[in-house]
Amino acid sequence: MGLCAWLILTVFFHEVTGTMVKLNNGGFEDIVIAISPTELEDHKIVDNIKDMFKEASNYLFYATNQRFYFKTVKVVIPSTWTTKPEYKRVSKEFYEKADVIVADPSLKYGDEPYSLQYGGCGEMGRYIHFTSNFMTNDSLQDIYGSRGRAFVHEWAHFRWGVFDENNNDAPFYTTGINMAEATRCSTAITGQNIFRTNTGATRKCKFEYKAQLYEGGCQFIPDKKQTTSASIMYMPSLSSVIQFCDEKNHNTKAPNMQNKMCNFRSTWEVIMESADFASSSPRSVPPPSPTISLLQTRDRVLCLVLDVSESMVKVSLYFSVLRGKNFNGKLWNGAGRGGRGFQQPV
Ligand SMILES: *[C@@H]1O[C@H](CO)[C@@H](O)[C@H](O)[C@H]1NC(C)=O
Repeated sequence: MGLCAWLILTVFFHEVTGTMVKLNNGGFEDIVIAISPTELEDHKIVDNIKDMFKEASNYLFYATNQRFYFKTVKVVIPSTWTTKPEYKRVSKEFYEKADVIVADPSLKYGDEPYSLQYGGCGEMGRYIHFTSNFMTNDSLQDIYGSRGRAFVHEWAHFRWGVFDENNNDAPFYTTGINMAEATRCSTAITGQNIFRTNTGATRKCKFEYKAQLYEGGCQFIPDKKQTTSASIMYMPSLSSVIQFCDEKNHNTKAPNMQNKMCNFRSTWEVIMESADFASSSPRSVPPPSPTISLLQTRDRVLCLVLDVSESMVKVSLYFSVLRGKNFNGKLWNGAGRGGRGFQQPV
């Protein structure tokens, strides 16, 4: 047998990667949410995605003074799941364009939703990350808010480049002699400063006069019943919260990412400066429910095979279409910023 070398090149047909989202009269179209092939088949994920977008569209609409809503959504189901006749077949490049991924928990955030933001204030993020546990386990909604509300919080990170108004690393800041406030927006959010001991018992936090702050480990636990409507980038899980902080109620003193990255401007002011805002106007009637279509990937892989022997050089080109193989896992490994740690309200 002659010397035989096989050179197999796997070439993926990439179009330009990145979002396909279009804004049309305030309606976001062609949002792609892709379920990772690492996730076990569970149709509750798909059902809950549908419900999430319905709720999110309505919540976003009123949070933006009747300006934006979600119009069409494409759910990408992995090729590893059972095929159904209603699924439209698409190539795996859809993964590269996904705005939202449902994938394994990240080391840093676990089941907490997050948006990969690597730009500055007002810049778009790369994607929103949910875990399948977040999509199916209803008890997580007590912590992060209903899935629709949590999605709007993440969408504001992802689409408009605004940041969290809470800060786990700096939960309090000094406001005067022997006075400290919880890092939050707006300051009208009421709550208790609670310290949880090793045994799980709770007590009021002690004030440390040297640091002019509450003791380490002290947490601000918002009251469940609130009257204030802001803010979504602080804690959308509070039922009264239906708005972003704006120039009137924004807390410029809070040591949080929003102030740091956006020069002490409110999230709503940043959103108002976006291209989306400039190209839209409020609508007087409620938007239609989002149209959600289901797609399933059919991986298209081009194999180029070179056969080189001693006696002659024969170049054979084989083009083959493989299915369900060679998933490029790159997209699912990102660890990012923009996540948030919410304390559960009491
Ligand atoms: C749901 O999530 C909670 C909180 O993380 C966890 O304790 C519980 O075991 C989960 N339930 C299921 C069915 O996975």
